[in-house]
Amino acid sequence: MAILEIIEFPDPRLRTTAKAVKEVNESIQNLVKDMLETMYEAPGVGLAATQVNVHKRVMVIDVSEERDQPQVFINPQVEVLADETGEYEEGCLSVPGFYETVIRPLNIRVKALDAEGKAFELEPEGLLATCVQHELDHLDGKLFVDYLSPLKRQRIRKKLEKQHRQND
Ligand code: NI
Repeated sequence: MAILEIIEFPDPRLRTTAKAVKEVNESIQNLVKDMLETMYEAPGVGLAATQVNVHKRVMVIDVSEERDQPQVFINPQVEVLADETGEYEEGCLSVPGFYETVIRPLNIRVKALDAEGKAFELEPEGLLATCVQHELDHLDGKLFVDYLSPLKRQRIRKKLEKQHRQND
């Protein structure tokens, strides 16, 4: 297993649309293991393959208090079941240090394959529902900052660019 490097906004690679996984084979399972290790180490509640510069439709989430309930979503598909929306203070390992309110549908259904390649269906609630949508956005090259005003997004961009220059 390995800790993978997480790429950060405004890195253009975060704008890549990930490709569907054709077969859940050993290389995908190794990717899942590395992503889980990377997510726990960060620490974060979710990670999409896009964030570690692998452009395959794989995401991992753990919203449990104990950090012992990993959930793996391969080729996830989300269906919005009702119009109600809710607000959540979101953050992102690719936008470190920034938390902003994002409005998203509350009632969704997600269909995906698990780490064994088995299909499953879920109607997540609360933080998990938010997380699933946030991670799925990554696979489509989208970030939570895209939901903010251009001014706010620009402010975050400038601050992160400055940090990246200082780290170089
Ligand atoms: Ni994120």
